[in-house]
Amino acid sequence: MIRVLFVCLGNICRSPTAEGVFRAKVAAAGLAEHVEIDSAGTAAWHIGKSPDSRTRAAAKQRGFDLESLRARQVQPSDFAQFDWVLAMDRSNLADLQKLRQFAGGTQPQLFLPLADLSESEVPDPYYGGADGFEQVLDLIEAASDALLQRVREQL
Ligand code: 4NP
Repeated sequence: MIRVLFVCLGNICRSPTAEGVFRAKVAAAGLAEHVEIDSAGTAAWHIGKSPDSRTRAAAKQRGFDLESLRARQVQPSDFAQFDWVLAMDRSNLADLQKLRQFAGGTQPQLFLPLADLSESEVPDPYYGGADGFEQVLDLIEAASDALLQRVREQL
């Protein structure tokens, strides 16, 4: 079993998108029983909430269902629990590194550099327009394909 955790700030836009997209790709590859997928936020603001309505709508348009997801905050124990801890941007990564300092376990890393993309961060779409949510999906779909290849190698 390989365990993957996606992390952003609020756990209502980027990381739930990554959770839903990667889960769909893993299922399509027939690997659902071998890969555990979750997401979390560095902030506590939205604990228990569904993903943002704009995030859910944009994902649904591409066939990804985020309806059952609920936000949670990342915990020090997550670094022992997950084999991959993937941050959406450098601010999330810095927060994760601080949280891990006394916990040990898996080193967090940026998600996008797993793929051969020109961007290294998934921009926060929360205060922007609809195109931001499309860009989040574009970047996450590309990086999820690269992550699936890496996970296959580990199974
Ligand atoms: P996320 O986006 O980190 O991709 O979930 C955000 C969601 C909420 C806020 C910021 C970013 N917020 O300020 O409440």
